[in-house]
Amino acid sequence: MRPVGSGSGGRFWRGLVRLLTRRAVTLLTLLFVGIVIATLLSMAQLSKALVQSQATQNAMLTAEALKQAGLLYSERVAEELKNLPDIKITHDHLNQANAIPIPSTYLIELSRHIQAKNMGMSARLYSDYPFPWRQKDGGPRNDFERQALAELRKNPAQPYIRFRDDQGRPVLQYAEASLMKASCIDCHNRYAGSPKTDWRVGDVRGVLEIIQPLESYEIQTREGLKQMFVLLSGISVVGVGGLTLALGDLRRRITERRQAEEALRIAEENYRSIFENAVEGIFQSSPEGRYLRGNAALARIYGYDSCQEMIEQITDIGRQIYVDPERRVEFQRRLETEGTVKNFEYRSYRKDGEIIWTQIDARLVKDSQGRALYYEGMVQDISERKRREAELRQQLADLKVEIDQGKRQQDVAQLTQSNFFLEVQQEIEAIDLESFWR
Ligand code: HEC
Repeated sequence: MRPVGSGSGGRFWRGLVRLLTRRAVTLLTLLFVGIVIATLLSMAQLSKALVQSQATQNAMLTAEALKQAGLLYSERVAEELKNLPDIKITHDHLNQANAIPIPSTYLIELSRHIQAKNMGMSARLYSDYPFPWRQKDGGPRNDFERQALAELRKNPAQPYIRFRDDQGRPVLQYAEASLMKASCIDCHNRYAGSPKTDWRVGDVRGVLEIIQPLESYEIQTREGLKQMFVLLSGISVVGVGGLTLALGDLRRRITERRQAEEALRIAEENYRSIFENAVEGIFQSSPEGRYLRGNAALARIYGYDSCQEMIEQITDIGRQIYVDPERRVEFQRRLETEGTVKNFEYRSYRKDGEIIWTQIDARLVKDSQGRALYYEGMVQDISERKRREAELRQQLADLKVEIDQGKRQQDVAQLTQSNFFLEVQQEIEAIDLESFWR
């Protein structure tokens, strides 16, 4: 694998990352919108599937309940009353006295009852072999019912289900086979008026159909979807808003940091330049007497090729640099007590052994606990100044001698010209020396 950031591949990735960061807010918004749409679509899909499976489940249960009601009626009512002499069990129970319906009629009537009572939902038991008295309203009434019969004959175990629009209203059409059992055969093959008399066990006698409108379910899920949309949109807006703010903040901070880093870099560069190009030797040294860091000028002053060489070779500043090691002791003592030392002059050895005059300004650097860490400061070669000072002093001394002589002559001249002197001279001349000494 090639490392990211190398070659044209690296350029591509860097470009992509730059694009992503620059267009982050737009991309995020698009992403969120995409997520919201995708979520809603999948939620719509999911809820549709849910509505359908729920409606199917419901239809299945209704069919099952109808069948159980028929079964219960057949076992508990029809069977029990069958043998009573004055009770008849017939399809035509409505028109006869002391008659109860046969189970199939009971089921047909129960289905109609449901249809009449239950808004929307309807149930129906039908077949393509209706009994003569059902010719009017029996038999399959539409395409779905015909198809359901055909399909269930082919595959009786599988309910036949269709979802369709009934005049703009979505409905579920559910059909399940009414199979001939051993208990059904006899009666169906013998009953007076039976349209077909060779039924066998397992034949599909007819269809139990449930029609279920989906409106109420859909209204519920639509409501749910609407809430979901509002919620997701809200979350997206808050999310994008928050992220935009956060990104803006981040970007600002990055810019600020970059500017600060740049300023720092420039400052460091400046300091480094000042440090490297200074005429004075700048140093950091340890109290034990080693150089820790220094600039080119320091090496130059002491005659070393580089500061590195100096750091390596000087292991005891007091002995190797100071001509008078006590001066170093004094220097250290003043640093420890006063913290700084100014214009401290001492004689130093250069690498070649030559002795030069140096002047040092230094301070003591301490750690946060106040312990001495190292000394730092500046060294200057003042040999030239010293030499000139000495020269000057000599000249001064010479001058003084000259001046002293001149003064004396002047004094003499002044003295010899003063009135007092002249008077004294005249007096002296007037004095007869011969007689004076006598
Ligand atoms: C006691 C006789 C009898 C028995 C038992 C019986 N049926 Fe029927 N079945 C009838 C009669 C009669 C009708 C017609 C009823 C009517 O139209 O009201 C009928 C109608 C039907 C129909 C509707 C046919 C149509 O097109 O209208 C189906 C389906 C059916 N029976 C299935 C069954 C099954 C399945 C069983 C067994 C679980 C069964 N029946 C048991 C007598 C019987």
